[in-house]
Amino acid sequence: MKHLFRQGSDPSAPTLLLLHGTGGTEQDLLPLAGEIDASASVLSVRGNVSENGMPRFFRRLAEGVFDEADLLARTQELHEFVDAAANDYGFDRNNVVAIGYSNGANIAGSLLFHIAGSLRGAILHHPMVPRRGVALPDLSGTPIFIGAGRNDPICTPQETEELTALLEEAGAAVAVHWEYAGHRLTGTEAKAAGEWYRSAFA
Ligand code: MLT
Repeated sequence: MKHLFRQGSDPSAPTLLLLHGTGGTEQDLLPLAGEIDASASVLSVRGNVSENGMPRFFRRLAEGVFDEADLLARTQELHEFVDAAANDYGFDRNNVVAIGYSNGANIAGSLLFHIAGSLRGAILHHPMVPRRGVALPDLSGTPIFIGAGRNDPICTPQETEELTALLEEAGAAVAVHWEYAGHRLTGTEAKAAGEWYRSAFA
């Protein structure tokens, strides 16, 4: 997968797996990663799917309607890509924290839903429920931050609450931060994510 890797100064810090939103690139979340943990290594990936030229991490049939078979295949592909990257760049595969926005948060959520041990934790900015009606792996103690919008038309508050409940039922330690800025990732949401990260991974 097209990506960039930056070696961090702190070898014990998590490697931050950056996953952009629809139409984004591997450059988009670099400033955010710097704000969350400037000393961490960064693996930033570009989605392999193109929707009219806009990179995404999996296909959708319509706004908010995911192509489930593609979602599952792309989730596995991303997981295997991170395995290979850990080997190539020499980072600890068991110490990877995803930071995703929108479509990137949804594939990060899909990793949590489908592949045990794929992430040590996650910061999900405006995620949806990636899939319904499946048993989640054991996520006991997995720290997860969700940034959500009270007026987000794409990821509604009801869906945020549904996702939170599913993750908590699987044992995850979920913190939800609410904003009032629609589907946007604001500076105050990024700041809240950074504060949460420092308390979860210090
Ligand atoms: C998705 O398709 O993943 C969600 O609708 C978020 C988006 O990318 O707009």
